This record gives sequence, structure tokens and C-alpha cells, in this order.
Amino acid sequence: MPTPLVAPAAPKLNHPALVRLLQRAYSAEMAASFAYVGHASSLRDPQAKAAVKQIEDDEWGHRRTVFGLMRRYDIPVNRLFEIQYYLIGKLIGASCHVLGWFMPYFFAGKLESGNVCEYFVMMHYFHELGVSEHDTALYEMGMKEKEHEVYFLEQIKHSRLLPLFERVFAWGRRTSRNDVDLDRKLAVANSHRYCQPHAAPPTLHKGETAP
Ligand SMILES: [Fe+2]
Ligand SMILES: [Fe+2]
Repeated sequence: MPTPLVAPAAPKLNHPALVRLLQRAYSAEMAASFAYVGHASSLRDPQAKAAVKQIEDDEWGHRRTVFGLMRRYDIPVNRLFEIQYYLIGKLIGASCHVLGWFMPYFFAGKLESGNVCEYFVMMHYFHELGVSEHDTALYEMGMKEKEHEVYFLEQIKHSRLLPLFERVFAWGRRTSRNDVDLDRKLAVANSHRYCQPHAAPPTLHKGETAP
């Protein structure tokens, strides 16, 4: 059988919100990576440094995975997002050297808490188009973001500053921005239930009780 001379055209993603979300996630993963470069270099403890470095590597991995999805559907990188998130990442990374110990952990945890649902919302959007072949990749990225959130919370959960920051910024021991529980994970096939737009209010973290 003769080899076709022209490669088949990439399928079009007729879903503007999904396209935008992929483009934004691609750039935001870069910002997160730069922020963690700064965060790791501001830490003295070698173990803590290595843990944040690992998280930075995870974010670069996410960026590669999201880029793979964008290429699959011929979605261009958004240059404006790239510039915006480059600056945001560098700024946050630099600020880690002046914000003290607590705040970089706190805001990283809050950010990660929001990132979890980004990947499950992407899954919802793909399902709206009848596409489920990316479920596992999206699930793994969402779960990894949850692990990051839990790691950062662990570092600061005994800080005296946490109750105040939690009241002001709505994230902490009692409040999460997603409904994923790592101890009771849903299977990939059921994970579309996470992060539903009208789901119950954010879950309590494991072992916590409502005030
Ligand atoms: Fe990520
Ligand atoms: Fe993350």
C-alpha cells in the first residue's frame, strides 16, 4: 500500500474554553516551575530543597504533557500568556527570598489547590467533545497537583500563622479548593465526578472537622 504523501490533518478542537485552558495551563506550568526554582533556592534544609526541586520537575513534566495535547490538536502556544506567566514566575521566584519561610509554602499550597481542578475541568471539556483518550494523563496530572498541595500544607500545618492566613485567603487545614481526597481516590473512569461546577463546597482536608 503506498505511503500517503500528506500527513492527516490534526483533529480540530471545537471548544474555545478548552483551547484557552490548555494554553493557559501550558504557560502557568512554566510560571510554577520558575517560582519553585526561587523557592528551592531560598530554602536552607537540603531535604526541603530537594522536595521543592522535585515539584519543579513535576511542573516541567506537566508542561511537556500539555504541549503534547496542544500539538495533537494543532493549538498554538499563546505568546501573551507565555510573556505574562514568564514574568509572574520570575517575580514569585524572586519574592521567595524576601517573604520569609511561611508565605512561599502557603501560597504554593493555595495555588496547587486550584491547579487540581484545572485538569479535571479539562477532562470534562474533552468529554463534552466525546473524547476520553486523555483521561489517564489528565487524571495523573490532577492527582500530582493534589500531592503538591498536601506536601505544602504538611510543611506549614503547625504554623501559628496558618489560621489567620486561612481566614483571609480561604485555603489551609480546613479548606481546599478541590474535592479530591488522596486517601479515597476515585478510579480514572469515575474521576469525571471531581470538580463539578456545582459540586458541594470545597472539602475538608483529611482528619479535619468543620468549625
Ligand atoms: Fe503542574
Ligand atoms: Fe503542582
